[in-house]
Amino acid sequence: MNIYKILQKKRDKLELTQEEISFFVQSTIDGNISREQIAALLMAICINGMSEGETFALTQAMLYSGAQLDFRYIGKPVADKHSTGGVGDKISLILLPILLSFDVVVPMISGRGLGHTGGTIDKLESIIGYKVNLSQEEMKHQMETIGGMIVAQSEDIAPADRIIYSIRDITATVESDTLITASILSKKLAEGLDALVLDLKIGSGAFYQTFEQAKNLVRLMEAVCSNFGVRFQAIPTNMNNPLGNYVGNWLEVVEVQNCLRGDFPEDLKVITFELASELLVMCNIFENKIIAINEIENVLASGRAYDNFLRWIASQGGNIPLSEKEYANTPIYIVSSERDAKIKGFQTKEIGYAAIELGAGRKVANDQIDFAAGIKLLKKNGDSCVKEEPIAVLFARDKAKFETAEKMFKNAIIWEN
Ligand code: URA
Repeated sequence: MNIYKILQKKRDKLELTQEEISFFVQSTIDGNISREQIAALLMAICINGMSEGETFALTQAMLYSGAQLDFRYIGKPVADKHSTGGVGDKISLILLPILLSFDVVVPMISGRGLGHTGGTIDKLESIIGYKVNLSQEEMKHQMETIGGMIVAQSEDIAPADRIIYSIRDITATVESDTLITASILSKKLAEGLDALVLDLKIGSGAFYQTFEQAKNLVRLMEAVCSNFGVRFQAIPTNMNNPLGNYVGNWLEVVEVQNCLRGDFPEDLKVITFELASELLVMCNIFENKIIAINEIENVLASGRAYDNFLRWIASQGGNIPLSEKEYANTPIYIVSSERDAKIKGFQTKEIGYAAIELGAGRKVANDQIDFAAGIKLLKKNGDSCVKEEPIAVLFARDKAKFETAEKMFKNAIIWEN
């Protein structure tokens, strides 16, 4: 097979065969083709697209480029969620303990912050001792004893994606529905899933501003999952406001615990229940979502979900009491309202950037995160504010960050006239 001919074909808008796509992916791993050739094919895919069949073949080749987990032998449904990324999105940390309460197995492989969005792995690393990298043996033990884990992507999961993504990142080829589908699903399907739900964030804090923009991605993901025999459901959710009241790694862990102990902000509750109930129905645990939601309320009220959270975090080495001590004296700064007015909403992406300014995320790849940094929102959309009334609390170990972050935060507020 000849990479030059494959490039010519995609350049000329022709459909590639499964063999050609496998050859490309395998050659990427083996180093038999140059980075220029990889970049050229990615750009051709980005411009000319790929059919459902080609997208399936690409996902399959990328998935089989590495190791796969398989916990179906445990004899329980295996499920997971993927989020397209938002601000204050801590749902995975709440969803896992809820699903564990219903004997659903959740082998979640998660990522770090990307752009203005926070990453689940960064949030978990704010917990002192929490191990995001587990060996095969440790994963097996974790899954057999607890039934769930959240880990970072290891070197051996979808290695082709690692190479391809690093080239997409610098060649303006991230924005391709085919490439996004293959990238996300080659990692998610490596978990050996029965069911996957996609939290499709739509709005000012999301990558997609309208559902229309995400329709093609959903179609491709549906087709690929169906080919793999994995039940798939995309759920569009509102990302026009930060989710919940806290943005920032440790702050979000605090909010997760509040939720699991019954103190759930309404916006976060609605979306978490929607995703959890959908998965429980997809896993045939309950007949419909109304029953599922009722049962979720019960496991929260009984404390079972919170117990599962504590067991899971401890079993991956996390120490909550020590973390609480570590972050107890984080410097704070109160942001006050400059007017008597109602908050209409937020430019949510800008709230994400304000949190990054405080140290909660990375501006460049190797930046060190301040896990204590972030924002507590005291007012949200629809709330009335009186001049000089506190509207948010900023947290950062480096107090020099407060001034700029305050400006960014204030600029992100949309006031009602
Ligand atoms: N997340 C991924 O893992 N891959 C993409 O291509 C986009 C988002």
